[in-house]
Amino acid sequence: MQPRRIAVANQKGGVGKTATVLGLASALSARNQHVLVVDMDPQGNATTGLGVELEDDAVTAYDLMSRTDEGTAANAVIATPWECVDLIPASVALANIEADGANDLIFRLDVAFEGVDLSAYSLVLFDCPPSLGKLLFAVLCAADGVVAVTEPTIDSVSGVGNLEETIRSVTRRPNPNLSFDKIVISRKRNTGEHTFREHELREVYGDLVAATSIPELAARQDAHSAHTQIHKFRGGRSLALQLAYTDLLDELNIAAKETAS
Ligand SMILES: Nc1ncnc2c1ncn2[C@@H]1O[C@H](COP(=O)(O)OP(=O)(O)OP(=O)(O)O)[C@@H](O)[C@H]1O
Ligand SMILES: [Mg+2]
Repeated sequence: MQPRRIAVANQKGGVGKTATVLGLASALSARNQHVLVVDMDPQGNATTGLGVELEDDAVTAYDLMSRTDEGTAANAVIATPWECVDLIPASVALANIEADGANDLIFRLDVAFEGVDLSAYSLVLFDCPPSLGKLLFAVLCAADGVVAVTEPTIDSVSGVGNLEETIRSVTRRPNPNLSFDKIVISRKRNTGEHTFREHELREVYGDLVAATSIPELAARQDAHSAHTQIHKFRGGRSLALQLAYTDLLDELNIAAKETAS
């Protein structure tokens, strides 16, 4: 069985995409399930969040995107300090890909994974950059599903709508198998505005919105600064975040959606 490949996306910055990738990876790791994180953001926040410092000669997501080469993803995988969590890291060089005019650019990531045996992993998570650029399209061509992360703000419905339109255009061609799996409400505060916007999102998108919202809690930043997985971080209200990411993982129903090899 090959694992499901999920793109964690939103063209808007700072909504909690990387936090969601790392939170889900942490929840899987706490269950001794192996996960591969693929950092597709030139900012490299997932890479640093996992406590990885890149060697000069490291093979990164840039190498997968800079040529068309079958199976190269296998050479880029490294272990991280987080138990059960492996990584294909990102460096700032990845930003150069947006200027590459090659015709097959958006297929390169998918090709890089072609023939690579990922059966040791329960899940592959792609951390996407905050744009609707070529890197996002490359991820959507290589993924099975999309999890949209959004804060409950005034622009959320239209922002998720833009992403939904992008997903729809990719499913028309070139990746008809791509599905819109979930919308995750992240960085939720107990304010009237956030509660109102959460209701609005649930009204528009119904069951597509995960029942579990991720609360805005300082423990998330503290754990990130300490490069520690939230399920091992003791301090503040880390338990509330642990439970939220574990519930979210359950909602994604990974095992049931594993794709046949
Ligand atoms: N649940 C949370 N509680 C508190 N802070 C959070 C939470 N989720 C994310 N943050 C903080 O918000 C900021 C943005 O989060 P994150 O980096 O995950 O967003 P992003 O969507 O990946 O951003 P970008 O678009 O720049 O990649 C970070 O400082 C992060 O630590
Ligand atoms: Mg990010």
